[in-house]
Amino acid sequence: MTVTPLSTSSPTRLLVTGVTLPDGSTGDVYVDGPVFGDPTTVPAGVERLDGAGLVALPGLVDPHVHLREPGREDAETIRTGTAAAARGGFTAVQAMANTTPVTDTADIAREVAAIAADQGACIVVPCGAITKGLAGEQLAELGLIHRATGTRCFSDDGQCVADAQVMRRAFEYVRAFDGVLAQHAQDPRLAGPDACCHEGELSGKLGLGGWPAAAESTIVARDVELAALTGARYHVCHVSARESLDIIRAAKARGVRVTAEATPHHLLLTTDLVAGYDPTFKVNPPLRTAEHIEALRTAVADGTVDMIGTDHAPHAAQDKDHAFVDARPGMVGLEQSLAVVIETLVRPGLLDWAGVADRMSYAPAALLALADQGRPVAPGEPANLCLVDPAARHRVDPADTMSLSRNNPYAGRDLPDPVRLTVCLGHVTYRR
Ligand code: DOR
Ligand code: ZN
Repeated sequence: MTVTPLSTSSPTRLLVTGVTLPDGSTGDVYVDGPVFGDPTTVPAGVERLDGAGLVALPGLVDPHVHLREPGREDAETIRTGTAAAARGGFTAVQAMANTTPVTDTADIAREVAAIAADQGACIVVPCGAITKGLAGEQLAELGLIHRATGTRCFSDDGQCVADAQVMRRAFEYVRAFDGVLAQHAQDPRLAGPDACCHEGELSGKLGLGGWPAAAESTIVARDVELAALTGARYHVCHVSARESLDIIRAAKARGVRVTAEATPHHLLLTTDLVAGYDPTFKVNPPLRTAEHIEALRTAVADGTVDMIGTDHAPHAAQDKDHAFVDARPGMVGLEQSLAVVIETLVRPGLLDWAGVADRMSYAPAALLALADQGRPVAPGEPANLCLVDPAARHRVDPADTMSLSRNNPYAGRDLPDPVRLTVCLGHVTYRR
């Protein structure tokens, strides 16, 4: 297994023969440097790879990862986080703004972009904060960040922008450059300081503070109205509650410019897992019940949820090894994202490979306005490829990772092990 930063390799030439494309057809795929070439005119001596039984997906794009640099390089760095991304089949990720210091100025955004250009094993877009210090009060340097790095997406993720007036002003501001506000929808009054799991029968039994689905859905409903009022784009981070899905579905029907993402963990794992008080399963928003999971799977299938975002949230052991209430929320996800999508959506017949290409590549690339990501695997297109073996499976071992952190909620589970090769703009960034 090798993972290579983009800056240390050159674009390659590689022919994959007899591979299945997302539309179900079979053919050859030719990586001709930074673009896909015509597979009928491949020069002699080019490496050939037998693609029989494999699927050629476009390089995956993750709209939501925490790379922890700058500030918490003990938990993850841009180098290790993007290595995990490449291993997961990703060719681009958006790095969330809750770094230390917060990515609320053009200087910090530029710093993240510069480290990524040097160390990254995939393209990294720094997400800008909506408010200074994620404090929810004064707007961050939205316009300057946009101009410095081209980012169009802003989020206080980890914190909710709770003040409606602040959210309205931010919508008005980013509308000028067709920006997007990505909300961590969690009303801090309804999900108070002790809230650490889904509110329901189980939270009562365990004596843990719960947070109700309504803490999410009420914020989503409010923000949809603010997006409608201002005409700006709105994105719901890690949607977890059935009630939020109904609101998003209705908003789309009205023509409000809203998109949403779902995490792999919310598609697979139920709140029952917190019964052992294992902080690995503490996450915001919390794992919910089977009914919410079923609604979420349906919503990804019917397009109400536009895309998958991992919310890859690596944490050092010193931040996780605590009583459940005191542990940091969050779980890693980059290396198992496609596996969980295959397990929860493809195998049950809810999503075909074209659907996977859309939800994990085309739609997130469109959200981030990345011109050379989220394009079809076809001659003339940028050579971003995620070569998948849909039949391979393994038992997940948290120690077998490119990430610096081990807070893996899939530990010990039998899951698909699909990614064989990742190519980013012609660079082989991961190969097994
Ligand atoms: O569980 C979470 N962890 N949810 C978030 O929104 C933030 C994330 C983190 O940064 O650790
Ligand atoms: Zn997050």
